[in-house]
Amino acid sequence: MGTGFGVGSSWILSAIAPTVQLITVDHSKEVVDITANHLKHPNVEFVCGDWKEVMAKGPFQFIFADAAAAKTMEGELMLQVLANGGMLLMDDFTPEEHFPEEWKVKPDKVREFWLNQKDLVATEIYVTPTSSVILATKMRK
Ligand SMILES: C[S@@+](CC[C@H](N)C(=O)[O-])C[C@H]1O[C@@H](n2cnc3c(N)ncnc32)[C@H](O)[C@@H]1O
Repeated sequence: MGTGFGVGSSWILSAIAPTVQLITVDHSKEVVDITANHLKHPNVEFVCGDWKEVMAKGPFQFIFADAAAAKTMEGELMLQVLANGGMLLMDDFTPEEHFPEEWKVKPDKVREFWLNQKDLVATEIYVTPTSSVILATKMRK
């Protein structure tokens, strides 16, 4: 049995194995209601609330993090609920060569954080010529 959770995500459901449980959490009731009404699936649990409310259901083998706070200031917490060997996916990154001038002079704290965690093997993958994702696996030594 695998467990994963997605923040505001639904597309993962189309690719999961029948033995996998998916928890999707969003603090917008509107988003949760629309998604829950659209997707009827025995393996999915819809939670309306802050993503941290599902931490107790972890550790998770897969996390798709789509909420800004989980990717930034709450990143350490998210790392705690990723299982050893588990995979983390975050989208909506802009490859460095496409940075506008004003970004080039600022530290890229989010990318630096995720690409330099000692417990993660992480990489950035282009999904279009101008956008990328970070894919990371927890490999605690
Ligand atoms: C970039 S949107 C993603 C929307 C969704 N993936 C989709 O494709 O429609 C980010 C979502 O995260 C939710 N969100 C933001 N902060 C959150 C938090 N702390 N806990 C739970 N959900 C949060 C927002 O309500 C929003 O729906």
